[in-house]
Amino acid sequence: MIPHKRPRILLTGELEAGALAEYKAQAELIRLITPDHNSLIKALADCDAAVTRPTDRLNAEDFAELKGSRLKIIANHAVGYENLDLAAARQAGIWVSNTPDVLTQTTAELAWALLLAVARRLVEGDQLVRSGSWTGWEPNQLLGTSVFGKRLGIVGAGRIGQAMARIGKGFGVELLYYSPNRKPEFEAETQARYLTLPEIFAEADLISLHMPGGPETRHLITAELLSSVKPGCLLVNTGRGAAVSEQALIQALKHGTLAGAALDVYEFEPQVSAELRALSNVVLAPHIGSATVETRRNMALMCLKNIQLALAGKQPPQALFNLA
Ligand code: GLV
Repeated sequence: MIPHKRPRILLTGELEAGALAEYKAQAELIRLITPDHNSLIKALADCDAAVTRPTDRLNAEDFAELKGSRLKIIANHAVGYENLDLAAARQAGIWVSNTPDVLTQTTAELAWALLLAVARRLVEGDQLVRSGSWTGWEPNQLLGTSVFGKRLGIVGAGRIGQAMARIGKGFGVELLYYSPNRKPEFEAETQARYLTLPEIFAEADLISLHMPGGPETRHLITAELLSSVKPGCLLVNTGRGAAVSEQALIQALKHGTLAGAALDVYEFEPQVSAELRALSNVVLAPHIGSATVETRRNMALMCLKNIQLALAGKQPPQALFNLA
């Protein structure tokens, strides 16, 4: 086989323009945008590297098929990586990297935007003004909930959950948190109180979910937890949709147990049930937690850096495991 001069990189989504220019300067790009599964596997086997989206799923069988192909690295264009079977990738000798840190603040900003939007009924207000039927200032119109002085429960105090908490200091909320492990430095810095999951759900006025995906967190937020919240409680989810059963969430919102929710992620993404879409007490965003020009550029460039190192025979800086 005649070796290709420039590495072949598969892209399954369009990259931010500034980052794309860098890719073009360094590689031959194979653009297979939103591929079906079979085409994806075929294309991966014929490339040196790939930049994948969190919706591109590769299981153990897929990696077994890719073993021995020219593929050296999958750079997942996301911090989450539950879409990829890491053990199988390792077994196949294919690196997998992700994009931590660069999206932390941006995603926490979106979580705050969602929290404020649902608390202040911003989407309902926008619809009222657009409809042309707004008749002017009224003392009782679209009354929401103040966040100042409320208790904010952070569930999942990783990088993004902690950033959410730090921003919360500026909004004057009292911080509660739950994470599988206690974080003493975070507690000292923010005065966040560590509680169990049931305690968070019983005590918080506002709850923000920041959990990673995968089997450990699937349906961790049970119907029972959702039914134990204080009146008026609002829930935000910018982690992974499957942390809460969509049906349980709909029931809690319909019965008013939860006063409102603001979501960026969904259990059956990109499908969002008609029942959820019909509710007025929800704000629904299309998985845009990290979607700013700056952050998407940095994420794509981080993927490129990892690819360069893997193709130079070195360990990529954001590799999710070691290859022996
Ligand atoms: C997006 O959801 C990500 O994991 O970066």
